[in-house]
Amino acid sequence: MFPLVFFDEMSTDSLSGLAAIASGHGLVHEKECRPVLRKAQFGDMEAIRKWRNHAEVRRVSLTQHAITADEHRSWWERTQEDPSTLVLIYERDGLAAGVITFFDLKDRSAWWGYYLDNDGLTERGTLFPAWISIQREAVRYARDELGLVELHGETLAANESAVAFNERQGFTEVERYTRDVAGRLCGVIHSRRTFEEENHG
Ligand SMILES: CC(C)(COP(=O)(O)OP(=O)(O)OC[C@H]1O[C@@H](n2cnc3c(N)ncnc32)[C@H](O)[C@@H]1OP(=O)(O)O)[C@@H](O)C(=O)NCCC(=O)NCCS
Repeated sequence: MFPLVFFDEMSTDSLSGLAAIASGHGLVHEKECRPVLRKAQFGDMEAIRKWRNHAEVRRVSLTQHAITADEHRSWWERTQEDPSTLVLIYERDGLAAGVITFFDLKDRSAWWGYYLDNDGLTERGTLFPAWISIQREAVRYARDELGLVELHGETLAANESAVAFNERQGFTEVERYTRDVAGRLCGVIHSRRTFEEENHG
């Protein structure tokens, strides 16, 4: 695997370009590779639960129990009714490959979280570029589509790669605290990215 810094310094477009070169399909394929963010639909529900319940996603989450089908359905219904929550599907190469949630959306501010289809992306050999791309797409969406001036996140301090990538994306630490995560006291970092007023048309 390439070191983090190598991929990190490449744009999502460069990564798509690499995929195009590797596949030998040229620019048409490159266009097809551009990631898409769309609103999650009812038909995405089962995939979302499967991805959220993946051991690796649970390990870095603040809520680590396996989410039951009933719990998932009421969460889904709550998110659909709540105007301050937005659940997006991250599509890569035409396949649903991750989830971004924006919540507590108000006054051009929101909180966010994300996770990927770890198994599917691992099978396709694209977990790492997808991990970088979903974060970049989420930040771009927050700024350009939602017109936010502040984006907040909470990350387990032990999740060092996510903390480091947040920093590279311009997030700064607001505070650090401990909270009970699955019965253990864990360090949590609240980080925030601000967007310049002039970024909004
Ligand atoms: C991974 C991450 C999204 C999960 O964090 P989380 O705090 O557990 O957040 P979620 O949005 O999943 O859960 C928030 C609440 O909604 C509930 N919920 C979330 N998804 C649900 C679902 N599918 N069904 C039912 N309830 C759900 C949770 O149980 C939790 O409830 P609680 O507030 O009563 O504890 C978040 O830690 C994060 O973004 N971390 C940094 C990025 C990262 O590392 N991502 C993983 C990459 S593999």
